[in-house]
Amino acid sequence: MPRCPRDDEHHPDGRCGISGSGCAALGVPGPGSRPDQCHGRGWSGHRARHGEAIPNSAEEANLNAIAMSDRATPAAPARTAAVIPAAGRGIRLGPGAPKALRALSGTPMLVHAVRAMAASRAVSLVVVVAPPEGAAEVRSLLDEFPLGERTEVLVVPGGATRQESVRLGLAALPDDVTAVLVHDAARPLVPVDTVDAVAAAVRDGAPAVVPALPLADTVKQVEPREDGPEPVVATPDRALLRAVQTPQGFDRATLQEAHDKTVFDGEGATDDAGMVERLGVEVVVVPGHEEAFKVTRPLDLVLAEAVLARRRANDGF
Ligand code: CTP
Ligand code: MG
Repeated sequence: MPRCPRDDEHHPDGRCGISGSGCAALGVPGPGSRPDQCHGRGWSGHRARHGEAIPNSAEEANLNAIAMSDRATPAAPARTAAVIPAAGRGIRLGPGAPKALRALSGTPMLVHAVRAMAASRAVSLVVVVAPPEGAAEVRSLLDEFPLGERTEVLVVPGGATRQESVRLGLAALPDDVTAVLVHDAARPLVPVDTVDAVAAAVRDGAPAVVPALPLADTVKQVEPREDGPEPVVATPDRALLRAVQTPQGFDRATLQEAHDKTVFDGEGATDDAGMVERLGVEVVVVPGHEEAFKVTRPLDLVLAEAVLARRRANDGF
């Protein structure tokens, strides 16, 4: 039988001692029925932060696992929710309605984003974080575009920064939600396969997951200047860089802890995974998708319309 290299988390016979589970990635079965939740540094770091003892030896791990299997209580079923921050104004898009409410092919960007989340079978609840003054309007807008009975949609008012809006969305989650996908309303065309891949990685035990793509452009680090040319300070190796997208997926407790502990002045954090990194928790990457781009500037609207036209044309065949 293959052994998980993290001996301290497994029975001496190679079985995984975490939560009665096995190590799916390595094909090591556990004593329980859920083949998940063996994630090396990321997972053990998560357990330590949440006050669970990490065994010091294989023998201790074995005793822990036996104690766990003696507890006959079945684990609560995991429920995944999506939080969609949609409270931004869309300054870079130019004058007009809040960005999430602007139309793409006649349908508000937010509705595209909510549909993209609801299309994933993993997601049974979507929390939309609306512009602070516009929650009632967003509620009635979403009622015009029903999603079917499988997906519940809540609407809450957002805050002055994206970080604050996500925090308010998290506060609205019911207790039974154990995993959270945070998805920008400004990425309305993310394919369902990308959503599913992020949700699956979280369900398999990763505490934080981001979809990402390699960069096309070379990136320079500069010394910002208000006037005159900015001097280049460094050229990071492009092969080591990734452009990250959303949805970003998290173990709920990990994301909540990140939001509780991270204080940013000014604009706040623009990326939830970055806050989790500050906790010392491992964040992993899954492949992103070019259609998950963020609508930020006017040219992005042209691209989004072109993507939708291509989808309609392909659906016609
Ligand atoms: N967002 C939010 N609350 C804020 C600011 C942003 O919920 N106070 C959301 C946006 O609605 C968007 C996502 O965070 O879905 C990503 O932000 P961004 O692309 O920067 O959108 P805006 O802030 O609306 O755009 P801009 O920065 O150009 O004003
Ligand atoms: Mg913004």
